[in-house]
Amino acid sequence: MKADKFGLHDPQLMKNFSYINGSWHSSESQIAVTNPANGEVIAEVSNASIAETQLAVKAAKYALTMWSAKSANERAGLMKKWFDLMIAHQDDLGLILTLEQGKPLAEAKGEIAYGAAYIEWFAEEGKRVYGDTIPAPSGDKRIIVIKQPVGVVASITPWNFPNAMIARKAAAALAAGCTFVVRPATQTPLSALAMAELAERAGIPAGVFNVVVGDDARGMGKVLTQHPDVSKFTFTGSTAVGQTLISQCATTVKKVSMELGGNAPFIVFDDADIDAAVQGAIVSKYRNAGQTCVCTNRIFVQKDVIDEFTEKFTAAVSALTIGDGLTEGVNIGPMITTEAVDNVDKLVKDSIAAGATLALGGQRDAAGDTFYQPTILTNVSHDMPIANNEIFGPVSPIISFDNEEQVIAMANDTEYGLAAYFYSRDIGRVWRVAEGLEYGIVGINEGAVSNASAPFGGVKQSGSGREGSKYGLDDYLEIKYLCMGGLTK
Ligand code: SIN
Repeated sequence: MKADKFGLHDPQLMKNFSYINGSWHSSESQIAVTNPANGEVIAEVSNASIAETQLAVKAAKYALTMWSAKSANERAGLMKKWFDLMIAHQDDLGLILTLEQGKPLAEAKGEIAYGAAYIEWFAEEGKRVYGDTIPAPSGDKRIIVIKQPVGVVASITPWNFPNAMIARKAAAALAAGCTFVVRPATQTPLSALAMAELAERAGIPAGVFNVVVGDDARGMGKVLTQHPDVSKFTFTGSTAVGQTLISQCATTVKKVSMELGGNAPFIVFDDADIDAAVQGAIVSKYRNAGQTCVCTNRIFVQKDVIDEFTEKFTAAVSALTIGDGLTEGVNIGPMITTEAVDNVDKLVKDSIAAGATLALGGQRDAAGDTFYQPTILTNVSHDMPIANNEIFGPVSPIISFDNEEQVIAMANDTEYGLAAYFYSRDIGRVWRVAEGLEYGIVGINEGAVSNASAPFGGVKQSGSGREGSKYGLDDYLEIKYLCMGGLTK
């Protein structure tokens, strides 16, 4: 096939209509999808509204009977085809993702593999939805537990992982026998629509996987959280928006799972392998230009090793290349909007005004309005705004600490509890700290924690439920207890 103007080998992957009940739906108005690296319009996507969202829920409800009646093997077969197609089109899907989201192309292709891995994982795991038998309190009874799909699942997904955040929700839902409706972020709908195109090619039946793209966030959100035919709602995004959506779900008592904000501590103890800690901090902080919920937000370094760590870390961060994600060798792409840059710049300026020292960066980059330099702040104190807000940008505040108890207390002193990281080679300390951190995910001597086989999710105001792993199916299943009586002769 001839490559199109973007270099896509399969231009049919670039869709600009919502995908509802197995067909592509146009609307009267359009949403312009722009490349955050240069502001150019990549595509005009039909702007769906409340009516299309209702249609998608209706389609998912209708398809539920057919999809839930399929065997786990049949569902797995179709999902495996979907996985194969995503891997076969990894280059094109990665290109679409970089064009609309900005992350470096190698990272975008990595996200495609990461998202696809959830589809493969759950295709297999769906075959292991076991029930139970329980000894009954009397001889004439039997107690049996079966697990059934929750029903129609609705979701709202963010712009920072336009493929993987959909994949890990949809994969678990479909494997469990649920049908699925997603409203992707309007900044990055093209990856979601490309997934729909491949789902269709894989033979996933009409109505099972629906994508509605529209800028009426409030109206569409209300349908997805309040429609009586939706049984479960799942969201990845900020805690503030998550709180509103949870309260909307309360009106019909939906099952909810939420993957919300974070304020990840990254702790370097004096017995740590400092070089490994530097590498871990780079991976966990600068992935996606710092725009992930599990990104390191606060770096705590024990005072005896703070100079060594800061020097090596500054050298490593200085070597990162900033630029358009399509340029070979770039490590840090643009941020999603100029407002995102403004927010990060304000946090940096406020910290400096409050006494922090700028060790590196600290400015908008000449690459364009949406670029912010990889930045390091030292002499940061635990009570500065930068240590208490989700930075969501390429900025590392370094905070000194004296001892284990103090750093655990500072690390836990936040309403968030998604991911935490620490580096130590003392086995006793490793257990004490791992158990003491109030977080859903703890990276121990490791900065890259996300993968399909592991349970991803947070505690406190970082959310509820787990995505990925054998636990990830639980949120999409209902437990039904069958009590069989009258068994005496
Ligand atoms: C997120 O930022 O919400 C997800 C990050 C990941 O899956 O690693």
